[in-house]
Amino acid sequence: MARITLRQLLDHAGEFGYGVPAFNINNMEQALAIMEAARDVDAPVILQASRGARSYAGDIMLGRIIDALEEMFPAIPLCMHQDHGNNVATCLSAIQHGYTSVMMDGSLKEDAKTPSDYDYNVAITSDVARLAHFVGASVEGEIGVLGSLETGEGDAEDGHGFEGRLERHMLVTDPEEAARFVAATKVDALAVAIGTSHGAYKFTREPSGEILAMDIIEKLHELLPNTHLVMHGSSSVPKEWQDVFNANGGQMRATWGVPVEEIVRGIRHGVRKVNIDTDLRLAATAAFRKVGATDPAEFDPRKFLKPAIEAMRKVCRERFEAFGTAGNASRIKVIPMSEMAKRYASGALDPRTATQIAA
Ligand code: G3H
Ligand code: 13P
Ligand code: ZN
Repeated sequence: MARITLRQLLDHAGEFGYGVPAFNINNMEQALAIMEAARDVDAPVILQASRGARSYAGDIMLGRIIDALEEMFPAIPLCMHQDHGNNVATCLSAIQHGYTSVMMDGSLKEDAKTPSDYDYNVAITSDVARLAHFVGASVEGEIGVLGSLETGEGDAEDGHGFEGRLERHMLVTDPEEAARFVAATKVDALAVAIGTSHGAYKFTREPSGEILAMDIIEKLHELLPNTHLVMHGSSSVPKEWQDVFNANGGQMRATWGVPVEEIVRGIRHGVRKVNIDTDLRLAATAAFRKVGATDPAEFDPRKFLKPAIEAMRKVCRERFEAFGTAGNASRIKVIPMSEMAKRYASGALDPRTATQIAA
């Protein structure tokens, strides 16, 4: 049994000072690439499905993929997480389908476009945390709205996020407000806004502190040393893969993602979960394009998908190594959700206290 909760995994990461990439999946090929990379380097895994992924593949198919991964990779602790849940129903139905963790993103209203207010966010996130904790599942909340500090715009590119412009104070998490939010909601992990956004077009230049506010992470960690911080929009959009994409007929304009060194700096200051979707999309699609351009007569999809799996596997391995996740799978003894539920009920998992679950 290798299905682990986010809380147990991030407590382990906190204790040993590493970060865990959370990779989005929509299909078997992404899932296999991530798990094979994890097995290559002995890393625990967080897989996450967006609402879009759940409607693309279907809950039954995604659920069976996770069951299969558990059987195929029994030595890899595997956390299955709902990415950007927009309401209580999304979060609870994910748990019903075998997810061990959910994100209640109350920074936006249910339409996943309109920025909410603090009271709305606290009310809905604490509802989800109370219910999820009854069954031992973990909860990630978000305070601050994801969006670009360069343009003030949200990330409509992925169909999630506000449209239009917001002022800097809404796009950067306020550490004092974050501390109140964690105490009020009892979330297990906290997503923060520091100028990252979803998709490939995050920055038009290599990001400086003005547009990627890593100093906020340091302040948050000082104020909330036992809270697991989550960085969204953390693809690095590697130049290497942009070049393969563009050399084979793609048209990606010049862009920068979040440099891996900045994420590593975040991990030194309490970042434990690092959300990555775009990098695997880009690596896979660059690999498809290369096959199509090299052999335009090819029509067997497996000839496209195998190099795509290899490309994604390489990216995953690099992140597991850079974030210090590698080498930790075999050091974790998974605690079942039912036992986690007892620990929540007894108050042993209060997010404000230093909680280290014995491995
Ligand atoms: O939330 C952002 C993730 O990259 C998921 O994107 O909604 O297109 O699956 P998606
Ligand atoms: P990227 O688009 O940078 O990969 O971010 C993914 C993400 O934050 C999913 O929640
Ligand atoms: Zn996100």
